[in-house]
Amino acid sequence: MDEYNDFENGSLIPGQTHSLWIDTTHATDFPPLQRGITVDVAIIGGGIVGVTAAALLKDAGLTVAIIDMSRIIRSVTGHTTAKITSLHGIIYKHLLKRFSEDKVRTYGEANQSAIDKIESIVKSKKIECDFMRTPSFTYTELSENLRTVEAEAEAAQRVGLPASFVETTPLPFDVLGAVRFENQAQFHPRKYLLALASELTGNGGYIFENTRALDIDDGEPCVVFTDKGELMAKEVVLATHFPFYDKGLFFSRLFPHHSYAIGVRVKGDVPDGMHYTEDGKHYAIRNQPGKAGPMLVISGGYHKTGQGGDTMAHYEYLVRHTRERFDVESIDYYWSTEDYDSADMLPFIGLSPRSQHIYLATGFAGWGMTNGTLSAMLISDLILGRENHWASIFSPSRIDPVASGKEFVTENLNVAKQYATGLLTPPSARDLAELAGGEGKKLVINKKEVAAYKDEQGTVYSVSPICTHLACTVNWNNAEKTWDCPCHGSRYNYDGTVIHGPALRDLKKRDPETGEDREV
Ligand code: FES
Repeated sequence: MDEYNDFENGSLIPGQTHSLWIDTTHATDFPPLQRGITVDVAIIGGGIVGVTAAALLKDAGLTVAIIDMSRIIRSVTGHTTAKITSLHGIIYKHLLKRFSEDKVRTYGEANQSAIDKIESIVKSKKIECDFMRTPSFTYTELSENLRTVEAEAEAAQRVGLPASFVETTPLPFDVLGAVRFENQAQFHPRKYLLALASELTGNGGYIFENTRALDIDDGEPCVVFTDKGELMAKEVVLATHFPFYDKGLFFSRLFPHHSYAIGVRVKGDVPDGMHYTEDGKHYAIRNQPGKAGPMLVISGGYHKTGQGGDTMAHYEYLVRHTRERFDVESIDYYWSTEDYDSADMLPFIGLSPRSQHIYLATGFAGWGMTNGTLSAMLISDLILGRENHWASIFSPSRIDPVASGKEFVTENLNVAKQYATGLLTPPSARDLAELAGGEGKKLVINKKEVAAYKDEQGTVYSVSPICTHLACTVNWNNAEKTWDCPCHGSRYNYDGTVIHGPALRDLKKRDPETGEDREV
C-alpha cells in the first residue's frame, strides 16, 4: 500500500470531507452484479461485517457473493476511528442494571473474542495493517463524572474484563480518572479488509459493486432483487448497517447518531493508547502510524442524525477542543460517520425476525470493529450450524421491555417530534434567488415543498424534501452537502441520491421553476 499518499495535506471545505483510511489505500473496482449467479450465501453490504463474514464462510467451504450499493469498505467502515476494544465508553455499569451478570459477561467476552479473532486473522494471513495491541481508556476531566468512571471500572471487573481504575493516562493533559482495559488493539481498517477482500474473489467467491439491493424473497432459494438483476442464495446476510429488509420494526428500535473525526498532526510525541470520554459532546483520541510520521485520529461532536443544526460547527468544536489540548501542527483530514444505538444498548445480531434464511447485524452504537467482527463470527456459526452461546443475548427477535422501555419511549417521542417539526417549520428561503452558491435550503415553489442546493457554479439541484423511507422531512447538512433524515437516519446526496438507508429510493426530483415532480 506504500505507493499511496499518506497524510496528504487537506483543509475543511464543505462537501469535500475525506477519510484518512480511504485516502491512504487503493480504490476498489469490482464489477456490478452479473446475472445468473447462485451462491450459498449472499451478503448485502461490504463493510467489516460483510467482508469478515464472507471470509469466514468461504474459508469454511461455502460459495459467497458480496453486493454493495457503492464501493466496498467505504461507507461506515471507511469512516470509523477503528478502535478494537471491548471498552465501549460507559456501558457495563448500565448493562448490569438491565441484564443478568451472565449476559453482561457474555457481551464482554464476545467483544474480547473479536479482538483475538482480528489478531489471529492478521497473523495467519500476514496482513500488514498496522495492527497493534494497546490499552484502552474511558476518562473524565469533570469531577461530576468521576464516580461514573469508577463505577464503570468496578462493573467491568465484575464481569471478568481486564479493567482497572487509574488516575493517570498517556495523554499529555490531566484527567481526574479513567477506566483502563489492558491488551486491546488498533489497526488501519481498510488495509485489513482490503487484504481480506483480495482473497474473496474466484473459486466460488464474488464481489459486486454499484449494485443496490431493493428487496429479498425469503424462499428456498432466497432471491435478492437488485437494480442490476437477481442473485440467488440459500442464505442472505444483511450487513447494511441498517437492515432495509425490516421485519422486526427496527426503524422504531434503532436510533441514529452522527459524529465527526479529524486527522491531526501534532508537535512532539503522540500519546499511546486509545482514549474516549463521554464528557460533553464525547471525545476520542488514538494515534495512527504513517509514512510521514504518526497522526492523531480525534473524534467527537455526537448528535442525533439530521438534528445537528449547523454541522460545520461540530467540526469547529472538535478542532477547538483539540487545539486546547495539543500543540497542533496541521489538520489533514475531516470526516463524519453515522451509527445506530439500540434501546437496550445491545446490538441485534442473528436470524431476522419472521425469516428463515435472512440474517442481520446492526446497532453497534459506534463500536463496530469488535461488534462487527463478532457479528460475522456469530452469523457464520449460525449458517454453518455450529453452536454459539452468544446467540440468545444478541437475538434480533428479543423483546425486553425492562431493558429497553425508557429509551424506546424517549427515542420514539423524539421521532414523532421530528415529523411534527418537519410539517410545521416554515421554509428557510422564499425563492431560489436567496440561495447562495454552495448553500442548501428548503423552500416552497407553487405550494410545493422543494429542497434545493445551488453549487458554486450556479447549477440548482432541486428535490422533494420528503424522505422516501417513511415520509419525514429531511434537513440540510452543510458540512457534507447532504440531506439527512432526522427520523431514522437516511441520508441523501445534494442531488437526492440515497447514500445511506433505511431509504432505498432517491428523493424525487422537483422542477426548480414549477415545483412539479420530474420524471428521471
Ligand atoms: Fe425513516 Fe426518513 S429514515 S422517514
